[in-house]
Amino acid sequence: MTSRSAATAPETYDDERYDATPFLPRRGGLPAYRRAAADCQGCPLHRKASGTVFGRGPAHARLMLVGEQPGDREDLEGKAFVGPAGKLLSRALRDAGIDEEDVYLTNAVKHFKFTEEETRKRRIHKAPSLRETLACRPWLVAELRLVSPELIVTLGATAGRSLLGPSFRVGADRGVPQPLPDLGEEAADAAGGEIRVIPTVHPSAVLRSQDREEMYAGLVADLRAAAEAL
Ligand code: URA
Ligand code: SF4
Repeated sequence: MTSRSAATAPETYDDERYDATPFLPRRGGLPAYRRAAADCQGCPLHRKASGTVFGRGPAHARLMLVGEQPGDREDLEGKAFVGPAGKLLSRALRDAGIDEEDVYLTNAVKHFKFTEEETRKRRIHKAPSLRETLACRPWLVAELRLVSPELIVTLGATAGRSLLGPSFRVGADRGVPQPLPDLGEEAADAAGGEIRVIPTVHPSAVLRSQDREEMYAGLVADLRAAAEAL
């Protein structure tokens, strides 16, 4: 038996219908949510992607890392942060003295968004829109409620926009713990509102950067700040 609610996917989506909520189970722990997320059709991104990539890690991790969306490799393997950005993140965690095994890793958006490059048949990552990010947010809020971490690190702008508000940009306050804003009723019991957030850059941005070393050092410094804040 699946715990998924009986929502059917609309053929076309309008603003109101970009929303994962009808696909969330009414009860259950992370495994139930993971199973239900596999069938989410809350926005059009499920159509082209291979499958939903849910978060992974200890069910009660003290630290949660939130990325943007699965990439090409993650989409194929169904596992978050296993591609190039994930490898860089693993190294940065190690350099910051954080054991990856202790961390819950997830993404703001659970399906891979891409465009196809005709000539080389490559799938090129495309950033999710704010509508898609907000549609997928109920899954992230559920993960927050269930894992109930003490600290969240948002990697890049999409994760920041999802949890800190639509106008979020990675800026001067990166690396600095701040309170998680009210996420509404759904998350009301998540750690009693005590969760803090540390924004930082996305590991993919480090990979794309002209000045990789400096940006990598910044990522490690922000992760170290997270380790110290725990
Ligand atoms: N980038 C992300 O944000 N998440 C992944 O899982 C992989 C790459
Ligand atoms: Fe559902 Fe999120 Fe996938 Fe959209 S991206 S279909 S909201 S899981």
